[in-house]
Amino acid sequence: MTLTQLQKLKQQGQKITCLTAYDASFAYLLEQAGVDIVLVGDSLGMVIQGHNSTLAVTLDDIIYHCQLVHRGCQKPLLIADLPFMTYATPEMALNSAARLMREGQAQMVKLEGGDWLIDTIRTLTERGIPVCGHLGLMPQFVHKIGGYQVQGRDQKSAEIIQNSALNLQEAGISLLILECVPNQLAAKITALLDIPVIGIGAGVDCDGQVLVLYDILGITPHKPPSFSKNFLPATGSIPLALETFVKEVKTGKFPDSEHSFQ
Ligand code: KIV
Repeated sequence: MTLTQLQKLKQQGQKITCLTAYDASFAYLLEQAGVDIVLVGDSLGMVIQGHNSTLAVTLDDIIYHCQLVHRGCQKPLLIADLPFMTYATPEMALNSAARLMREGQAQMVKLEGGDWLIDTIRTLTERGIPVCGHLGLMPQFVHKIGGYQVQGRDQKSAEIIQNSALNLQEAGISLLILECVPNQLAAKITALLDIPVIGIGAGVDCDGQVLVLYDILGITPHKPPSFSKNFLPATGSIPLALETFVKEVKTGKFPDSEHSFQ
């Protein structure tokens, strides 16, 4: 999967599927299920390492898990998260992203934040590093925002998210993840942007959906977020659960109103 193919999927109105993975065996199963994008997310801090936030994850952690995932799959686009404080300046971002691509074999890096990242995104993309933005609920900001809650509910914060999405696109991102925002706002941003918008708790009108793998299999130690869905009980096996996720996203069955915010 390439960025050009993802762009084509958006233009054709075909939904894009993305799941997180942290090791070779699950990466292989994701590829078998036909998942378009595999994300080595810093959610590994919570679902693999058992922390209660993503803040403890290091660049070396992501590189290690990215190497494992890369060995397990070839077809999906491989995105790696830049962990907390590894992209505080454009120069730090450049060094961190170069390591994710060179040592981890990532094909794209993801970073959380709004307009303050514009110089960083330009610095990365001008040097050949594809960038995925992440707006709405940004888990690396959990202590600043005071918890994991829906973002963009009022007009002012919705406008900030929408304007940031346009500004990040202008700066050079090729993909945007929009987390935990009301359906209507996500639909508006998806229609406004030329690049694909992948939602998580952002309603069915995004160009695609991403979820944390362990949440959709119900194997996390914590309570999964309300927008996530455990696909395992109804399917009875991990490969079938993954295939069902792909099918439900591609057909627009997931997310339904129970798994999104009005
Ligand atoms: O870290 C992660 O897994 C993520 C996804 C939930 C989007 O950022």
